[in-house]
Amino acid sequence: MILIANWKMYLSHADALALAKEVVDFNIPKGLEVVLCPSATALAAVKEIVGKKVSLGSQNAFWHEEGAYTGEISCTRLKELGCSYVLLGHSERRQYLDEKNTMIRQKMHASVATEIQPILCVGENATLRKKGMTVEYVTRQIEAALEGIEPTTELIIAYEPIWAIGTGDACKPTDAKAMRDEIETVMKRLKWKKYLVLYGGSVDEKNVVDYVKGAGFDGVLVGGASTKKESLKAMIDALLQ
Ligand code: PGA
Repeated sequence: MILIANWKMYLSHADALALAKEVVDFNIPKGLEVVLCPSATALAAVKEIVGKKVSLGSQNAFWHEEGAYTGEISCTRLKELGCSYVLLGHSERRQYLDEKNTMIRQKMHASVATEIQPILCVGENATLRKKGMTVEYVTRQIEAALEGIEPTTELIIAYEPIWAIGTGDACKPTDAKAMRDEIETVMKRLKWKKYLVLYGGSVDEKNVVDYVKGAGFDGVLVGGASTKKESLKAMIDALLQ
């Protein structure tokens, strides 16, 4: 089971380090992997604090390995900092930075080549859901991002309906499970061997178990609630039971 803490751009440098120090003292059982995804500026310092007890993930990566790409960070550089995971295609990046499926595909290829585990984020907005286009849209996102990647590659897919992200309006576990099943169907059709499916979108200590034990997800991708020590600890404790 895996819990990805996506700290987005919420925490100051000092607060990120303070929270990382708390997390290493949590009781994290063998069956649960916790991945902290702080701002890029805090990756190295967080790694120093957490060592091997907790994993490190980046919130983004660029597709070229090196060169004249001002402001970008390659998977190779992230690996040097100790990142073993990278979030790709997060809806906030699709929305605010206009990331397209073709860009996300290139990032996927780069992360696979660098052996950083990609976490592919997919999900529909409220309009698509109302129109009944969720399955078609998410299927397209997955197919486009995976084009040209060997189905033997280990993969993590995070289903995050956009309307549920940061809104407190979490997707009903039964609806999330229906999407999990659809994603399963796509992956079977693509003959994918090893993959996990996570749920994300307003996960907190009250509902986390519903997604993992109820809806059968392999873990969760948590934003807001993962930036608060008490909520993060309570989610880990809830997953233990
Ligand atoms: P949220 O964010 O938990 O704050 O809804 C989830 C995400 O965007 O990964």
